[in-house]
Amino acid sequence: MNSEPARPIRPIAIIGGTGPAGMGLALRWARAGETIIIGSRDEQRAQLAASALQRKVGKQANVSGLENGAASSAADILILTVPFEGQATLLKQLKSSITPGSVLIDATVPLASAVGGRASRPLGVWQGSAAQQAAELVPKGVSVVAAFHNLSADLLNGDDPLDCDVIVCSDDGDAGQLACELAAKIPGVRALDGGRLENARIVESVTALLIGMNIRHKGHAGIRITGLPPASYR
Ligand SMILES: NC(=O)c1ccc[n+]([C@@H]2O[C@H](COP(=O)([O-])OP(=O)(O)OC[C@H]3O[C@@H](n4cnc5c(N)ncnc54)[C@H](OP(=O)(O)O)[C@@H]3O)[C@@H](O)[C@H]2O)c1
Repeated sequence: MNSEPARPIRPIAIIGGTGPAGMGLALRWARAGETIIIGSRDEQRAQLAASALQRKVGKQANVSGLENGAASSAADILILTVPFEGQATLLKQLKSSITPGSVLIDATVPLASAVGGRASRPLGVWQGSAAQQAAELVPKGVSVVAAFHNLSADLLNGDDPLDCDVIVCSDDGDAGQLACELAAKIPGVRALDGGRLENARIVESVTALLIGMNIRHKGHAGIRITGLPPASYR
């Protein structure tokens, strides 16, 4: 008989999860034993993505695919991985599907490419950052965290450990802690508390810098924060 206590099932819904960023996070968390729901505007696309992930991870993977609204209702942990140009409209559509008490972890990077500019330039957002825009649009009682902006989707979708820190910003300490815990499940990743949600603008804009470096140097740049006490790295 297995004497280990049963793990509570806490599905993680990845909204806009059919793209490289969502699929990469889903892959790493499915491998770590998490229950994943891939969300899409199209249920069939979500199911195809979930099947592809299931094949990649193997029989032990617990992955399903749902339309974004159904995915949002089915989980209390939501990861938002859509292009900035779709973020506000989508969050307005999902308002009635997101349960109060949920945590929404936003990985959206506002890039100038959303308005015909370069992906290596950050786009100014009235609220300060994509994450702060998300915080304005989610239902009352939903905590927003900014995280995972600086991880390369190409590397996430591979098999090797990453060489990158994840800076987590939130005004809700418990929600930030949850994001740190999820980040630490990705091999090679360390999570760091980046302070309040208003700091998300800095972390989001670092991604534009990394994209420019990737173009110039033909690589997959990440970041490491050094010099903090060991206990700061989760
Ligand atoms: N790629 C990276 O390396 C990386 C790294 C860190 C952060 N990010 C950020 O994470 C987000 C997703 O990145 P990605 O490269 O995965 O993007 P993506 O492939 O362009 O989009 C992800 C998914 O979002 C959905 N989507 C596209 N346009 C939409 C719209 N107008 N409204 C609602 N949903 C829409 C699509 O899914 P359906 O068609 O199935 O609905 C798509 O598969 C972006 O904000 C990006 O800046 C990316």
